[in-house]
Amino acid sequence: MHYPYQIKSQQQYENDYALSIKNPKEFWANVAQHFTWFKPYDTVLNWEFNTPDVKWFEGGKLNITYNCLDRHAATHPDKVAFIFEPNDINQRTQKITYAQLLQQVSQTCYALQSIGVQKGSRVIIYMGMVPQLAITLLACARMGAVHSVVFGGFSARAIADRVADAKADFIVTCDAANRGAKHVLLKEIVDDALLHVDVKKVLVYKHAGINVNMKPDRDVWLHDIQNKLQVQSLPLFQPVVMDAEDMLFILYTSGSTGKPKGVVHTCGGYMVWVAYTFVNVFQYKPGQIFFCTADIGWITGHSYLVYGPLLAGATSLMFEGIPHYPDAGRLWDIVDKHRVEVLYTAPTAIRSLMAAGLDFVKDKNLTSLKVLGTVGEPINEEAWHWYHKYIGNGNCPIVDTWWQTETGGILISNLAGITPHKPAHATTPLPGVQPILLDDQGKEVTGNNVSGNLCIKFPWPGMLRTTYGDHERCRQNYFATYAGYYFTGDGCMRDAEGHYRITGRVDDVLNVSGHRLGTAEIENAINTHQGVIESAVVGFPHDIKGQGIYAYVIYQGDDVDAQANIAITVSNMIGAIARPDKIQLVAGLPKTRSGKIMRRILRKIAEGEINQLGDVTTLLDPTIVDDIKNNRQ
Ligand code: WT7
Repeated sequence: MHYPYQIKSQQQYENDYALSIKNPKEFWANVAQHFTWFKPYDTVLNWEFNTPDVKWFEGGKLNITYNCLDRHAATHPDKVAFIFEPNDINQRTQKITYAQLLQQVSQTCYALQSIGVQKGSRVIIYMGMVPQLAITLLACARMGAVHSVVFGGFSARAIADRVADAKADFIVTCDAANRGAKHVLLKEIVDDALLHVDVKKVLVYKHAGINVNMKPDRDVWLHDIQNKLQVQSLPLFQPVVMDAEDMLFILYTSGSTGKPKGVVHTCGGYMVWVAYTFVNVFQYKPGQIFFCTADIGWITGHSYLVYGPLLAGATSLMFEGIPHYPDAGRLWDIVDKHRVEVLYTAPTAIRSLMAAGLDFVKDKNLTSLKVLGTVGEPINEEAWHWYHKYIGNGNCPIVDTWWQTETGGILISNLAGITPHKPAHATTPLPGVQPILLDDQGKEVTGNNVSGNLCIKFPWPGMLRTTYGDHERCRQNYFATYAGYYFTGDGCMRDAEGHYRITGRVDDVLNVSGHRLGTAEIENAINTHQGVIESAVVGFPHDIKGQGIYAYVIYQGDDVDAQANIAITVSNMIGAIARPDKIQLVAGLPKTRSGKIMRRILRKIAEGEINQLGDVTTLLDPTIVDDIKNNRQ
């Protein structure tokens, strides 16, 4: 395996970047030719950002799994595709070669087909971090079914909402997931979800060996079907021919309003983008072991644990458990044991392991590491230096990769060892990415040493195409704030050298431990609690989580444990990740005369800046603010 599109020097980065702006079609045609297309595309790109309507490689026919699996199984069948490190340290590591992975994906295709899944079906996947999860994604992609993975920490209600929104007829789950010292009873949670919505079939993978209820006619065991079909003796399941712009997957993510939206990615552009960014940002070299700690339930897991590494024929390490189990040295043990060369994790994990102390690091052999990566939220300089010094031994480049569920893959990042890193800076855009900073009036902010709202002015192959079932929502959310631009929702600085530094969301979206949550979504959950009249949720700085959740709630009930019980309601409605850190019961919320909650004031109070609230004279009832200040949590 070699990567003809891998950038080898700063000079080449500059040349490629310039070319990608001057002649994007030629640039991406050059990259795309290194993949297998069953039929070549007719046009590289057609686009406009008003509707929006973006099409890459139109007319091209492909199957992403052919590029992930068949190609490599033919040339290096015995190369390890996945190393699986179980949650339980007494269980054995598993290695799955490209040839084996292709077989297992094929066998899962047959099982999915026999329960009725076909091209275009939407399949909700709710599993722990086990190889069968990646296999199920790939099996869907191979059959042309659209996968929508729901993170295993989400609630029954969240599953039901996604099943309904995606109009999914199928769920794939497992009996339970092993997470630290706990089992998460995934099948039971799916059963609860299915009290609210219906699906035709639930396919259950036996993993933890927990007893579950199987509803006749609806629930089927994967192994039962596979035995019945005798999948071992069936020929390889042939990849379904997909159009470049056919849907590959839907992934739900939170926005500033209402319910999570289903971000849609398509086959051709996503494939090219994740492969290109994987190979370039991490400067991946054939044979290296790549360890992305993200859960496949998030976009990072989709793009840099499954698709990106497999497209590059890489060895991807999948870890079932959590960084603190059995102790805070677990990630370093894994690096040591498997001689990991590239490690990709989130600032929140770095901060919490840093807080656990160096005792967990000191006896670990981390000399295999060559490249470190971070993703998901701004990294503070202290965490950056700790990561660099103690994990990277002072000699690994750190790639600070900025991107989003919507962008499919990394948009702004240094390239490991090729372009310089800089603490807390994502630095420079990848070829094809044209960032622009706009002020609140939509005027371009030019020059350096400036800040503004981060927008992108030209399409890149991996960008979202729509939000499932509601194209207008996609337009409203991303393309309407600044006409003609994709708006990211992030604030950003451009420093004296022209390097980008992401400062965080400028909309009502929180980033809690690298997980994205909408304040409106949390408020809606709180408001379902009996006795709650109204609520307002804001973020506040949190040492480990980056942001914590602070909820102000008007409650009229007689429960003395109202705060604790409201927190439980939020966990039940969304998942434990959305549970507020602080809940303050208030008599009223600070509102303007037109009835709008002044979140700026609530944020300041949550941050503890109670003496710098600014102008409160436009409030309907300024005395409310004193009451809130005095009872701050
Ligand atoms: C939001 C997207 C990208 C995959 C994981 C999160 C924040 C992401 C960085 C970074 C500063 C970052 C942004 C972005 N973010 N990476 N390197 N530096 N902020 O995906 O859940 O869609 O969240 O995460 O605020 O908008 P997501």
